[in-house]
Amino acid sequence: MAKKVGVLTSGGDAPGMNAAIRAVVRAGIRNGCEMYLVYEGYKGLIEGNIHKIDRSAVSEIISRGGTILRSARLPGFKNENVRKQAVAQLKKHHIDALVCIGGDGTYMGAKKLSEMGISCIGVPGTIDNDIASTDYTIGFDTCLNTIIECTDKIRDTTESHSRCSIVEVMGRRCGDLALFSGIAEGVDMIITPDHPISDKEIIENLKAWKKAGKQHIMIIISENIYPDTRVLNEKIQKETGYESRVEVLGRIQRGGSPSAADRVLAARLGAHAIDLIMEGKGGLCVGLVNNKVVHYDIYEALQLPRNKHMNLLRLIDLLK
Ligand code: ADP
Ligand code: F6P
Repeated sequence: MAKKVGVLTSGGDAPGMNAAIRAVVRAGIRNGCEMYLVYEGYKGLIEGNIHKIDRSAVSEIISRGGTILRSARLPGFKNENVRKQAVAQLKKHHIDALVCIGGDGTYMGAKKLSEMGISCIGVPGTIDNDIASTDYTIGFDTCLNTIIECTDKIRDTTESHSRCSIVEVMGRRCGDLALFSGIAEGVDMIITPDHPISDKEIIENLKAWKKAGKQHIMIIISENIYPDTRVLNEKIQKETGYESRVEVLGRIQRGGSPSAADRVLAARLGAHAIDLIMEGKGGLCVGLVNNKVVHYDIYEALQLPRNKHMNLLRLIDLLK
């Protein structure tokens, strides 16, 4: 009998999720599976928002940002009784396997469902790049390119007005967006959870740069370092002699057509998720490590050390 396989997106949306949905559906159909779309993540799952589709349902989506399946956050999914409703809905449709595209929270939901008899495979879809079992998550590259495009523009006006600009980027608790964009922009200071800089040191540096005649300053900072980055901005204005502005890039970072790198990553990882399902496996997540497609047990993946790009930190000072 044909395998029946569902696919959903969950957590914060990311560019390339649609390319991943397409890859899963097309690879599934090629392997003789019946494919189902689940709308609105785990919330849609428990509500039975599940639809059987053919290959044309994912036509023309590869270049679109966001997720055609829409995303949702359902904290109640941590509760076993809530997950039982999801299992019941899947059983009603005779679905035996599910591909869950999202971040580490989504992975936990997928693992718990696997333990309840549904073979789930996690695919890393998040701009944050905070999943240790893959070098890059789907959406990270596109997001970086958006940050670079915005920061180049901010740099123009920063230079023209001889100011200090602090650009706050997303990442939740992961500093990769700040680290990579800071290196790509050659900024003067990168502040991330793995590379914190005290207020005292920031102010001392800026005072020294002012004294040395440095005209303008570019700083990239991860979100959640300060409850409100405007506090740092005020301090710089008051204490360093630089006129300063803070730019919180916000959700513009999550939108837009996925980059070629994200589309190719989505194709590779989506296809591998179906390979694993065809082998009858579940409770796993897929990733790309050293440019090779790999998979891990989800619990193992979530325990790997998270700061996988620490080696790049040396570039911050080296290239200043
Ligand atoms: P992400 O997947 O991007 O990390 P969230 O942390 O918001 O995003 O997680 C997405 C969803 O995964 C949550 O809204 C919840 O439904 C589910 N989830 C998160 N943690 C768990 C858990 N420990 N057990 C079961 N489901 C979970
Ligand atoms: O996980 C993606 C992400 O964009 C994080 O970088 C950010 O902290 C969070 O989601 C914001 O979520 P929301 O749009 O729900 O406020």
